[in-house]
Amino acid sequence: MTIPSLEIHLSEDMLTEALRHDARVGLTASPKWLPPKWFYDARGSELFEQITELPEYYPTRTERALLSAVAGEIAEAAAPEVLVELGSGSSEKTVLLLDAFVAHGELELYVPQDVSPSALETAAEQINERFPGVSVHGVVSDFTHTLHHLPRPKGKDGKRMIAFLGGTIGNLVPEERAEFLSSVRDVLDPGEFLLLGAGLVIDPAVLVPAYDDAAGVTAEFNRNVLRVLNSRLNADFDADAFRHVAVWDAQQEWIEMRLEASRNMRVEVRDLDLTVDFAAGEQMRTEISAKFRLSGLEGELAHAGFSVARHWTDPDDRFALVLAAAK
Ligand code: AVJ
Repeated sequence: MTIPSLEIHLSEDMLTEALRHDARVGLTASPKWLPPKWFYDARGSELFEQITELPEYYPTRTERALLSAVAGEIAEAAAPEVLVELGSGSSEKTVLLLDAFVAHGELELYVPQDVSPSALETAAEQINERFPGVSVHGVVSDFTHTLHHLPRPKGKDGKRMIAFLGGTIGNLVPEERAEFLSSVRDVLDPGEFLLLGAGLVIDPAVLVPAYDDAAGVTAEFNRNVLRVLNSRLNADFDADAFRHVAVWDAQQEWIEMRLEASRNMRVEVRDLDLTVDFAAGEQMRTEISAKFRLSGLEGELAHAGFSVARHWTDPDDRFALVLAAAK
């Protein structure tokens, strides 16, 4: 078997340094908060995969159905030689795109990028096996920091596409989003594409349960960030003493996940020499998952230097795929 190449831009040391920084900033802020990227150690990535199969969590299956319906049209419109996927995770839905791109005949290289080496390795191996004609080159990095340059096949000037699926764009607050979209625009040449998957604003009665499932998998996923701090920074969080909270912020149009301390707690983060006190009932933000209106999203894309070529939504208007060309 061919071993797919894996490029590590994020060594364990850099990862720990970034986590130390984020934990210190977030745990000493008022209110406290933690960035969502730290959910995804091996266990967190596995819990997220379980979330995608929950009856309440509609985004993954909605995007998958949409992708399978329109992948041919995307291939026709964009015909990329290189597909770079940001936050690729398990690459499970990407197979639908790869199938269509391979059938269309141009695709040579697939570059999955993720913060989780474990998810990336498994994905890269599976893709390699399934698409022997496509080179796979995994990149372990943080897409918000390391989007400096995109590979292209030697001596070729064929088109490249960056895919950012799953609605992960919603993890960024508006200012981060603007910066991110501009940096994506900057690494593309005019005429090259961004394919963006984004959750749409829908009825909170459907939205909230997707982030607060009856089986409690999302709660475990949320608490996993505390376990990551325990194992990577030698902290002593009693994760089970934190309650999972998911609220819809109608003003900002985002879901906010929080962890609520069920009692007064003093936590030691030994590797940071940091003592953190939680009061009973205190809530700490761990993730935002913004939902979009098509007009707003297209405005943000235009502002970043893209023109929207096409968009597709599912029959219930819960999720959108937007194909945008760099201007
Ligand atoms: C992986 C960021 C797309 O926001 O829906 C799922 C993460 N958090 N359930 C999302 C998540 C809680 C997910 N993304």
